[in-house]
Formats: sequence, C-alpha cells, structure tokens
Amino acid sequence: MTDRAPIAVALDAPDLDTAAYWADLVTPHVSTLKVGLELYLRFGPEAVASVRGPRGVDVFLDLKLHDIPATVAGAARAVARLHPDVLTVHAAGGPDVIRAAVEAAPSTMIAAVTLLTSLGPADLDRIGVTGPLPDAVRRLAVLAVAAGARGLVCSPREVAAVRAEVGPDVTLITPGIRPPGAAAHDQARTATPEEALRAGADLLVIGRPITSAPDPGAAAAAIAAPLRRLTPAAG
Ligand code: C5P
Repeated sequence: MTDRAPIAVALDAPDLDTAAYWADLVTPHVSTLKVGLELYLRFGPEAVASVRGPRGVDVFLDLKLHDIPATVAGAARAVARLHPDVLTVHAAGGPDVIRAAVEAAPSTMIAAVTLLTSLGPADLDRIGVTGPLPDAVRRLAVLAVAAGARGLVCSPREVAAVRAEVGPDVTLITPGIRPPGAAAHDQARTATPEEALRAGADLLVIGRPITSAPDPGAAAAAIAAPLRRLTPAAG
C-alpha cells in the first residue's frame, strides 16, 4: 500500500469494539495504529491482536515504560512476543533503562519519550527538570540515541532541533498534532500536521482530532491527503 500517510492514530478507546471500529475506518489512510495505556491495561495482548487484525498496518505499543532497568527489560521481553513495530520507554529513565529495552526487544523499534507534549515550561520548574524546555528535550534525545533508541518521541515544536542533533537515521515521532482550528485538549506544545512534517517528523501521532470526529474515517482522510503530497513515497 503506497498511499497511507505517516500517521499513527491513537486508539485511546474504552473498549475493543470501539478501537476495532476506529481502526477499520482509518486504516485505508494511515500507516500505523497506536495502542496506548488505556487499551493495553484493560485488555492486554488481546488489544494488540485485535487492533492489528488483518489490516496490514504497523502497530505502535505506547506503554511509556519507566522503571528500573531489570523491570523494563522484563516488560519489554513480555511484549516483544506480540511483535509491536514500535515500543515506547521514557528517556528520563536513563541510558541503562533504554539499553535494557533495546536488548530485550531487538526486533522492535524502541522509541524514547523525551518530554510529554502536555508539559509546558512552568511544569518543568515544578518537576525539577533543568530547562529551557527545548534544551531538556535535546539532552534527553541525545542520551536516548546514545543508549540505542532508534526512535524518539518529541513535540513538533522541537522536532527540527532534535533532528539537527541526532541526524537523519533516527525516527522522529510527534504527538501534539492539531489540524488548524482543532481543540488543543490537554496538549500544550502543538503544531499542525503539515508543520510537523516540514519540520522533520517521520510519524505523526494523532488521536482525538480523528477519533472524536463525527466520522473518524473522513477525518483521517482529510488530514492524510495533504501529507501524502509532502511524502510521496509514504508507504
Ligand atoms: O488525542 P491526542 O491527539 O492528543 O493523542 C495523543 C496521543 O499521543 C495520546 O495517546 C498520548 O498518550 C500520546 N502521547 C502524547 N505525548 C507524548 C507521547 C505520547 O500525547 N509525549
């Protein structure tokens, strides 16, 4: 399939039927389906199997693991048998945690979450992370790549700076995507899909602007169309 846009739809659904319904509607238009904590904690491996189904899309398991290295290794090993294409860990866990995940799930791209896109500069002060925020993201990105992460999750606002820092071979994944005029919800550092791609993102995570739309399939199609023009080789 060559006409799927580089979008991971966040299937943050309360039940498997809803997730499967959204998945069916959006898969003609997007490359990836994202299973996050809500679905995975409720349904476990069944959530991954049900979302993947026969759809021929990539599965992104967004568990944002954050624990000591041995526990993250065990967790990554436990889900590696589900063959997710992408698995997330928090970069703030430190290099040993990232290395543990990479070694435990060698066939899965480990993507390190730099700073959640719901955090703003004032939050960094509150949680005691040295800013400014773009510096903190760059620092975490460099640390994660040095420890073996092949992907990074950052906001579209920092993607250009991160790309400049880590080079062309690391997959940059950006949540916090909002089409022009869409509600920000709890996201603080947002950009439009086209801005994010132009800044150097490889995969755009989009949830509520698609899944809360009256017709998620039409919403995915509308967001995907201009992106295909930017990434003619998207597969
Ligand atoms: O609905 P919305 O487009 O805001 O969905 C964003 C998705 O991206 C959610 O599933 C959220 O868990 C995820 N995410 C994020 N910020 C990160 C990493 C992942 O919002 N840094």
